[in-house]
Amino acid sequence: MKSLHQQKLIYLNGFAGKRPNTPISYEALAHRAEQYLSPEAFAYLAGGAGRESTISLNRAALDRIRILPHMLKGVPDVSLQKEWNNLTLPAPVMFAPIGVLELAHRRGDLELADAARQLGIPMIISSQASFPMEQIAERLGDCPRLFQLYYSRSKELSQSFIRRAEAIDAKAIIVTLDTTLLGWRVRDLELGYSPFLHGRGIAQYWSDPVFQKMDPPETDNSIKPPLSFSLIKNLVRLNARIPGNSISNLTSGKGLNTVRKFTNVFTNPGINWSDIELIRSWTDLPIYLKGILRPDDAIKALHCGVNGLIVSNHGGRQVDGAIASVEALPHILDIVNGRIEVWVDSGVRTGNDVFKCLALGATGVCIGRPYAYALAVNGQRGVIDFMENLLAELELTMALSGCGSLEEIKGDLISSI
Ligand code: FNR
Repeated sequence: MKSLHQQKLIYLNGFAGKRPNTPISYEALAHRAEQYLSPEAFAYLAGGAGRESTISLNRAALDRIRILPHMLKGVPDVSLQKEWNNLTLPAPVMFAPIGVLELAHRRGDLELADAARQLGIPMIISSQASFPMEQIAERLGDCPRLFQLYYSRSKELSQSFIRRAEAIDAKAIIVTLDTTLLGWRVRDLELGYSPFLHGRGIAQYWSDPVFQKMDPPETDNSIKPPLSFSLIKNLVRLNARIPGNSISNLTSGKGLNTVRKFTNVFTNPGINWSDIELIRSWTDLPIYLKGILRPDDAIKALHCGVNGLIVSNHGGRQVDGAIASVEALPHILDIVNGRIEVWVDSGVRTGNDVFKCLALGATGVCIGRPYAYALAVNGQRGVIDFMENLLAELELTMALSGCGSLEEIKGDLISSI
């Protein structure tokens, strides 16, 4: 078992006086990331909507589940392998799409892609990535990649993103439904910080041929920031971040226009079920809807011919007080009744959390914030360490609960309090 090797390695290193470079516990990982990152970067990664009650609910729902391990089942070996979409994945997990990863690490998505490639664990490339999807795909090599779409105000742009995703051999399109507008994120508001205004996390847009041809919107004269040193500094930095010569970007207004075009097109509260049918008609790739929390929406999704759902509340970043994903999961599984895949995310921190989600009946689990912190703490090595530790814990828990394979993780292995 890989987990035994992992444990042995850590303990033997400790015997030689060397402690792990990447903290093992989620709390220590988050704490270390906070020490390394600017207040703005950490707030963006860690924060949630409103009073962050949904972040707590996500944890509470997982903590309420108890594992009932089987004894004497004779489990000499454990396989975490998962058949998915004609691929054999090393484990039933994926890297959730996280935008603006450059806040965690200078090379952001590229560094994550390097780690994903070494692990063979699929990466869901975000619409808000810090690098164009083509560059990320290059770093991924043979590693499976999926593309997460924010269906923007421009249908032409959304379609162009999908064409590009097909060209980089994305295995599926994940349409995120819960972020037609950004939630009320108090930590970011407190700092007056939106990464997008700084030209961060908009690489899919400036690299897109349709976006490049768009005209900037009319100037909104109703809101004007005060002229200050920070304003000038941030303008200079913004123009250095987008492609082209930073001086001519600045003089031509390219930086500002790029951000204005992005903010004009990004929010799309008008999206409805007919748009999902439209997206369905645009591509033959499997489509997953991310952000479903209600059984009646799951039924509508089934009628649109999608291939799967990701039960998610976006890590508590959108609707404060929204139901925990893990609480919503059983109801959605009930109604879907095995007709399509049901993945889950939000609040998953450990291998045992993954075990609990699988025992509830999830097809697989997307991992979010912990890998972003690992990236901040120790780059691609950090992500590999974190993921190997999570999978080691999952493997040990399976072995200690009497499961040699994922199929043996059944509902009778858990109960709720
Ligand atoms: C996200 N998430 C997200 N989801 C998405 O579909 N597209 C995106 O660009 C982003 N960006 C993003 C940024 C940051 C900083 C975070 C923390 C999250 C949501 C993400 O895919 C996933 O649903 C959550 O991270 C799951 O919650 P936990 O496990 O991180 O608490």
